[in-house]
Amino acid sequence: MSANSFGRRLTLTCFGESHGILIGAVIDGCPAGLKLSEDDIQRELDKRKPGSTPYSTSRTEQDIAKIVSGVLDGYTTGAPICVIVSNRDVDSRPYEVFRVKPRPGHADYPAYVRYGGFNDYRGGGRFSGRITISFVIAGAIAKKLLRIIGIEVYGHVCQIGCVCSDRLPTIDELRKVYENPVRCAIPELIPSMEDVLKHSIEEGDSIGSMVEVFAFNVPPGLGDPIFHGLDVDIASMMFAIPGVRALSIGLGFEAASMKGTEFIDPYVISDGKVYLKSNKCGGVLGGLSTGSPIHVRVSFKPPSTIRKRVETINLKTMTNDYLEAWGKYDPCIGIRALPVVEACLAFVIADHCVNQGLIPTVIKDEYR
Ligand SMILES: Cc1cc2nc3c(=O)[nH]c(=O)nc-3n(C[C@H](O)[C@H](O)[C@H](O)COP(=O)(O)O)c2cc1C
Repeated sequence: MSANSFGRRLTLTCFGESHGILIGAVIDGCPAGLKLSEDDIQRELDKRKPGSTPYSTSRTEQDIAKIVSGVLDGYTTGAPICVIVSNRDVDSRPYEVFRVKPRPGHADYPAYVRYGGFNDYRGGGRFSGRITISFVIAGAIAKKLLRIIGIEVYGHVCQIGCVCSDRLPTIDELRKVYENPVRCAIPELIPSMEDVLKHSIEEGDSIGSMVEVFAFNVPPGLGDPIFHGLDVDIASMMFAIPGVRALSIGLGFEAASMKGTEFIDPYVISDGKVYLKSNKCGGVLGGLSTGSPIHVRVSFKPPSTIRKRVETINLKTMTNDYLEAWGKYDPCIGIRALPVVEACLAFVIADHCVNQGLIPTVIKDEYR
């Protein structure tokens, strides 16, 4: 599998650069007969596009999805599905300086070394949040596939700076999350989160965040241990999202300070079915789903392009230097990355469902 592709039976190949002509995705291995329109993809892209929240970059992009292959008369054909999105609001001037003075905290310097200075630096090139358009396209198709077997994926922003939730949201709260500007499903946290964001923007700084995502109705026994356990693949795809710094499944980091008696989820039988009484394991044991909701938290660093004078180097003169960025940037990644995180969870689960035959290779009427 190439460095720009992910998945085993259902695969995503992503291409394009932030300030190039377009961003695109090729999704291969999608069953034939899935009803799929550009609107299905557009609905998801609209949640990610700049301006979809007041706390996003001022870059103005409509991000219109165009399906160029793999769909005929409104149904997938079984051939690779290629979807493209044009880049329009492109001004690469603010990025010129980063070729010589790399942004601390961003990929400029390691990319310069890795690609010998040939990498597309415009808008961050392949190291831009814009490449996650491809993830969202793949997620839109995955969500449609999962709906056939009743699996639903929802997430929210559970932390911005020091403001964080101390309870899990209800599914009704999660369903309404795109209605509020910070995309937090816990209503009482929204004003404090907005205060933190406003303060950060006023200061010309940025702020870290955490996204929490759930998959409901995943049947037990999904996953392919050892190296393609469900948790392994979830972590692998999530870490491909630019800006992700840590990930936990269920009580992940908290587990380190707990006793076995506190951490285990006891089993119980009710109406002839097996349940777990709690879900501290986040719905995955041994790389396999347990039947409880899959619960993943993803931590995002504060974006590193900030309007403050920061220390850096000058690669031309090989001297120490300073940098002050100007241009269009996000103050907080998690808010715009929420649909991307949802897309990754949906895509990994859909890939495993196709792999294990839970989703048939031809979607017949009884599944629609
Ligand atoms: C949706 C989205 C938007 C982003 N916007 C910005 C941004 O405006 N400024 C910035 O410095 N980083 C932004 N990032 C993060 C960088 O792309 C990322 O930090 C960089 O590629 C380095 O990769 P790493 O943080 O994973 O090491 C964004 C990421 C995502 C997912």
